[in-house]
Amino acid sequence: MKLGWLEITIFSIVLTVVISALFVRGKDWLDPGFWAVFAIVGSLIMFSVLWFLTFDTLKKMSLGSKRVPSPTVINHRVGYEFDPERKIYVPTIGEEEPFFGKKWSEDEAIQLITKGKLAIQSRNCMDCHTLLGNGAYFAPDLTKSWLDPKWETMIKPMVGAQTKEEAIAKWIQNPQYYATWQRRMPNLKINEEEAKAIVGYLKFMSAIDTNGFPDHFGKSSLAY
Ligand code: HEC
Repeated sequence: MKLGWLEITIFSIVLTVVISALFVRGKDWLDPGFWAVFAIVGSLIMFSVLWFLTFDTLKKMSLGSKRVPSPTVINHRVGYEFDPERKIYVPTIGEEEPFFGKKWSEDEAIQLITKGKLAIQSRNCMDCHTLLGNGAYFAPDLTKSWLDPKWETMIKPMVGAQTKEEAIAKWIQNPQYYATWQRRMPNLKINEEEAKAIVGYLKFMSAIDTNGFPDHFGKSSLAY
């Protein structure tokens, strides 16, 4: 059985009532001790549920798990397709493709993505953008930005790049020259190495299963 929030909540309440009822047998319900038992048992059960959920989530968030791929995913084509069973868009990991002209080993990919994450943190991209649900909506959501069709259709020819990764790297180093929206991104003095690493992070992030968020990315004409 799949345990959702509803099953877990009902299970916790039933368990609290059953265990408390065993302890309060024979006690008068007007006795404050009667209710103290419910409070203590309820708190202990909720603490255990939170403990379980925390470790379950940590397992699902770790690199190489079902939802968060290994950083070597940058060596593969990443897509975003509707899953009729889950009724949401999910990332698809396709055939191999070179990333900045080569195949990255696991160590190299981890280093690249870690550097990308640090570069993103050092410039506070979240002041304007959202990444994995955190940040602001002054500028487009970056969670699935790698999959934005605009890189191929508009930015690649605009910056004169051969590949999508090169196009994004050039764009984020010089956003003031290639403004495409009503709002402009400032030049954050990102060097070539950092730009490459940021693009690696963006590609990796787009392959994370985020339960279909943001919805319909790249499939509708709505701006994100
Ligand atoms: C001061 C606000 C601001 C900050 C900080 C900022 N950006 Fe932006 N960014 C923007 C705006 C505005 C746009 C839309 C510009 C456009 O389309 O012409 C944008 C667009 C983008 C896009 C294109 C997204 C898409 O799919 O259309 C990427 C990628 C991007 N930014 C990456 C970054 C990264 C990486 C950082 C941090 C290193 C960063 N931005 C920091 C304002 C910001």
